[in-house]
Parts: sequence; C-alpha cells; structure tokens
Amino acid sequence: MTAPLIVFTGVSKTFETARRTVEAVRDVSFTASRSEFITVVGPSGCGKSTLLNMTAGLFHPTKGLVQYDGMTLTDLNPRTGYMTQNDHLLPWRDVAGNIRVPLEIAGMAKREMADRVAVLIEMVGLTGFERVYPSQLSGGMKKRAALARLLAYDPETLLMDEPFAALDAQLRLKMQTELRQLCRRLHKTVLFVTHDLDEAVALGDRILLFSGRPGTIYQSIVSPLPPDRDLYHLRRDPDFVRVTGDLWDTLASTSTVEA
Ligand SMILES: Nc1ncnc2c1ncn2[C@@H]1O[C@H](COP(=O)(O)OP(=O)(O)OP(=O)(O)O)[C@@H](O)[C@H]1O
Ligand SMILES: [Mg+2]
Repeated sequence: MTAPLIVFTGVSKTFETARRTVEAVRDVSFTASRSEFITVVGPSGCGKSTLLNMTAGLFHPTKGLVQYDGMTLTDLNPRTGYMTQNDHLLPWRDVAGNIRVPLEIAGMAKREMADRVAVLIEMVGLTGFERVYPSQLSGGMKKRAALARLLAYDPETLLMDEPFAALDAQLRLKMQTELRQLCRRLHKTVLFVTHDLDEAVALGDRILLFSGRPGTIYQSIVSPLPPDRDLYHLRRDPDFVRVTGDLWDTLASTSTVEA
C-alpha cells in the first residue's frame, strides 16, 4: 500500500486577533490517499476553509502536524490548486486569457501555452467560447473556465471550497458529475468542502463530517457508492439514502451550530 498523500495528525488551529481568540479546529486527524476524493462537510464556521488553507500551506497548525507527501508543511504548498465559491475570473480577459494566467506566471512558451489552453478548453467543455469575456458567460461556464484555470498548471491536489454553492440544482448536478469524472480521469486528489450533506455524499469517496466550532471530526465514512456512480439517479439509491440519513442524525445532535 502506498503512503497517504495528505496527513493531518492531531491538528488544532487557534486564531488570535486583537479582539478575540477563536479556536477554529481541534485535534483533527485524517489521511488522504492519492486520487482520493474527500468531501468535508460541517456547519458554518467549523473550520472547513481553515483545513484547506492548512493543506495549501497558507496557515499552519497551532498544534499537531500537517504533512504532504511525507514532508511537514512549513511553507506554501505548490502542489495544490485552489478553487473557491467566487470564480475570480479577470473581467478584462477572455476565457482563453483567463486560463493562460497561471501558465504566463510559470513562464511557459507561447506555442506550448496555446496548445495547453486548447486542451483545457476542450476538457471542460468550453470549445467555441475561447474569445468570450466572463460577463458574457453563464454561471456554469464561469465555473468551467475557473476549473480549466485551476487545472492549467496541473496541481496534484485540488482544494475546492464550495465551488458550486451558487449554482441552481440542475447545473450543480451537471458540474458535480463532470468534476468527478474529470478528477478520476486525471487521478487528482481532492479535498472538497461543502455544507450540503447531499453533495458531500454524492461526491465523496470518503466523507468527513465536522462538528460545529471548534471543528472536530464527528464521523469519517467510506462511501459505499461505486466510483463510477451515476449522480443523476443517486436520490433513490438505498446506500445514498442510508448514508445521508446517518449523517443528518449525527448533525442533528450537534448543539454548537453557529449562524
Ligand atoms: N485569518 C483568520 N483570522 C481570524 N479568524 C479566522 C481566520 N480564518 C478563520 N477564522 C475563524 O475561524 C473559524 C473557522 O473559519 P472557517 O472560515 O475555516 O470556517 P468554515 O467552516 O469555512 O465556515 P463557512 O462554512 O461559513 O465558510 C471562524 O470562526 C473564523 O472567524
Ligand atoms: Mg469556508
């Protein structure tokens, strides 16, 4: 068995500001294997984004260790890519121009860059929209463009912070389906944060359920759903119904949920 890629061991994170001290997460331990799709679900303020930030090396634990590929993270982790709820597309650049940003920063040669952008555009289903500006894109297309930009420099691990929260249910399902397929094809390791239990169960190979702040792992569930699951028909799947039911029962017993 290969060693896990991401290892959290007894991680606690406390933020000290001039006005208050906040313990965001407490004693969090979990591992993520290569190519594993892990969903992290829990109430607002339980430290989900903090967890991603620590994996990206943006924050460091107050207590415990965050290791990536066998090394303790002490600096930014360049092997991760981040996607948030906000697409942060540059309005003055068209789709191709936005996807080029990380490649330009990396100093890629023009020819190679054009080829790479073409592959990415095809990969996320934006062929024909290369010259379109963000203001002219639908919500789903913006997500596709942001996803292509995220994949541009081929990060090994994708850190996704509620990327589909603003989409309508139907489009969300479509994007979830495509994301899972793409990540499987490209063998990406994914930490996907959501506060939607259904989304967590639909997408995760493993689901980490967090308590309210300070976030601790209440439950870690290995998904009984097949890797090539059909997200469109999950709602009637007995395994899906059982796992979401179990998670709801656990969440309902949490009394520290914050608004
Ligand atoms: N840089 C920071 N400085 C001070 N406090 C912070 C910082 N980042 C997060 N916190 C605090 O840590 C706690 C956890 O925040 P975090 O953003 O990780 O929660 P979350 O689970 O992502 O919430 P949400 O679902 O609302 O996005 C919150 O109380 C937040 O105010
Ligand atoms: Mg958050």
